[in-house]
Amino acid sequence: MNLEKYLEANKNLIDSSLDEFLPGAQETPAVIHDAMRYSVFAGGKRLRPILVLASAQAVGGDPNKVLPAACALEMVHTYSLIHDDLPSMDNDDYRRGKLTSHKVYGEAMAILAGDALLTLAFEVLVDHTKGIDPLKVNLAVVELARAAGSMGMVGGQVADILSEGKRITGKDLEYIHRHKTAALFGAALRMGAILSHAEQWEIDSLSNYALHLGLAFQIVDDVLDVTGEAHRLGKEPGGDIKNMKATYPSLYSIEESRARVSEEIEQALGSISSLGPEADPLRKIVNYVGTRDY
Ligand code: IPE
Ligand code: IPE
Ligand code: MG
Ligand code: MG
Ligand code: MG
Repeated sequence: MNLEKYLEANKNLIDSSLDEFLPGAQETPAVIHDAMRYSVFAGGKRLRPILVLASAQAVGGDPNKVLPAACALEMVHTYSLIHDDLPSMDNDDYRRGKLTSHKVYGEAMAILAGDALLTLAFEVLVDHTKGIDPLKVNLAVVELARAAGSMGMVGGQVADILSEGKRITGKDLEYIHRHKTAALFGAALRMGAILSHAEQWEIDSLSNYALHLGLAFQIVDDVLDVTGEAHRLGKEPGGDIKNMKATYPSLYSIEESRARVSEEIEQALGSISSLGPEADPLRKIVNYVGTRDY
């Protein structure tokens, strides 16, 4: 299989489903629906929703059936980025080459657009999965809620903010990355598998894969903030240094950070070694994450 074509085809599928699930930009109050659409369609890579589809495929399920869960996860991800960019958080003016939500719509609307995406995610997850066993849908709701909340992404963001300007240990840094980033990767793989009636050993394998892939992804994000090019990143690099963030390059060297990425990638691949050729997209995505430049 050709990874580029796979990513492109699935991205298009996800984009058209998101368009269907989001209220039209003219719906009252128009400003909020415009703001929600602005960030959802700002040019994200769609990696997390693609992982939901790839996870379903890896356990012999139908990727089309888990499209609503994939879109729900992308909505949660987009909300997390809108809030992450706020002046009170990372204070970023650009994301994906475009002005951030609060720059275009003001802080109040950016906060509310995030809130609305978070709640719409759960509406879509439950309302558009009627053909799936409700017990499995219940489990998926719990996965997404837990991964997004204070024991997951929000918890990681809290630790990220508290660590600004402090020297923290490698263990504390790993806590941040596991929670702020790997948790949503976990929800991607676990929801895709659970909604496809996977067996427990498959869910466990995919969870381990997600943890290592998520860690690798965030370490690469940290490295790119030092070594990346503005025209590829869609924002000026150096924001982490400016905000005195705890990152892998701030604690280790770039070489050590890259070595850690390679280790996590090996572990991610090893986690799914018992799965068949249906898991090949997941195997290729691992290499893509290690070599991406934005
Ligand atoms: C950015 O995630 C936030 C991190 C967890 C590093 P992505 O790099 O996946 O963002 P988009 O959706 O492709 O813009
Ligand atoms: C964000 O991490 C992780 C989230 C949960 C939003 P970063 O703050 O490093 O992400 P970027 O670099 O702004 O995309
Ligand atoms: Mg941040
Ligand atoms: Mg940020
Ligand atoms: Mg970053």
